[in-house]
Amino acid sequence: MMSIRSLAGACLSAFVALGAFAVPASAQNYPTRTITMIVPFAAGGPTDVVSRIVTAHMAQTLGQSIVIENVVGAGGTTATTRAARAANDGYTLITGHMGTHAASVPLYPKLAYHPEKDFEPVALLAGTPILILARKDFPPKDLKEFVVYVKANAEKVNAAHAGIGSVSHASCELLNSILGVKPVGVPFNGTGPAMNALVAGQVDYMCDQIVNAVPQINAGTIKAYAVATPERNPSLPNVPTTTEAGLPAFQAQAWNAIFAPKGTSPAIIATLNAAAIKALDDENVRKRLLDLGSVIPAPVNRTPEALATLVKNEIAKWTPVLKPAT
Ligand code: MLT
Repeated sequence: MMSIRSLAGACLSAFVALGAFAVPASAQNYPTRTITMIVPFAAGGPTDVVSRIVTAHMAQTLGQSIVIENVVGAGGTTATTRAARAANDGYTLITGHMGTHAASVPLYPKLAYHPEKDFEPVALLAGTPILILARKDFPPKDLKEFVVYVKANAEKVNAAHAGIGSVSHASCELLNSILGVKPVGVPFNGTGPAMNALVAGQVDYMCDQIVNAVPQINAGTIKAYAVATPERNPSLPNVPTTTEAGLPAFQAQAWNAIFAPKGTSPAIIATLNAAAIKALDDENVRKRLLDLGSVIPAPVNRTPEALATLVKNEIAKWTPVLKPAT
């Protein structure tokens, strides 16, 4: 005959065990309404383009609309601060990247969020190699001439970017530090508008993510000196690597990923992660991302845990590079 004490202990253990699997109703049925995806830069730029390609498929899987909200300013940190403070109910997400969730940490001493403490990583969407781009009539005809020209005209040349801490700003800070130059920075609300200025010849050069550059390079409206990855990119077979072009020290690849506010339930994170992975396995989504030069994450890199590790490693990588810039 079980004693009262043993019976009580057994009931308590059963209750605790059941509680561990109890998923709040809100998470069980998630999502039941439209999801807002904040994009920290102007429409038409690389972050916006990658986010729209993937979330359009995620919305089909989730059975709810995902509305993109472009929130600009301060190199993406305005939007990222807003996302960090949003309700952690799964209905406000952000497509962040190497800038908002790594480079901004050393560049903003009073950053109102911390990428690791204030967000739940959801899924890595795409790796985006960086290219050195210039207006079509910029005098240097190759990277070697670019280096000589920029050093000789350091006081006159300017470089477009999407705000302090953006990918375009951080990666060109690395390039400029390697060259030992400090060109005039020309900020925009995203490299969508910045690319328009480059095509119009209003700015001299820019370090930008490949997904923003492929259409313009193929249209012949801008110059691409090199891609800052060890291998050439299949979408741009004629663009040399920085190593081939004589500047092996400049290696830079960004990435775009989905984050949710801290405290978003594991069940909701798992639902969103599964939808993102399904999108990355869809042939149309893959074709669109690959045609724009994206590097689609291998399955092992698609987990929330892998994204958390990436963010930690990227903050550690970019902090010593960018600290002197502050
Ligand atoms: C940047 O960090 O440069 C942004 O990705 C630009 C953009 O997406 O518009």
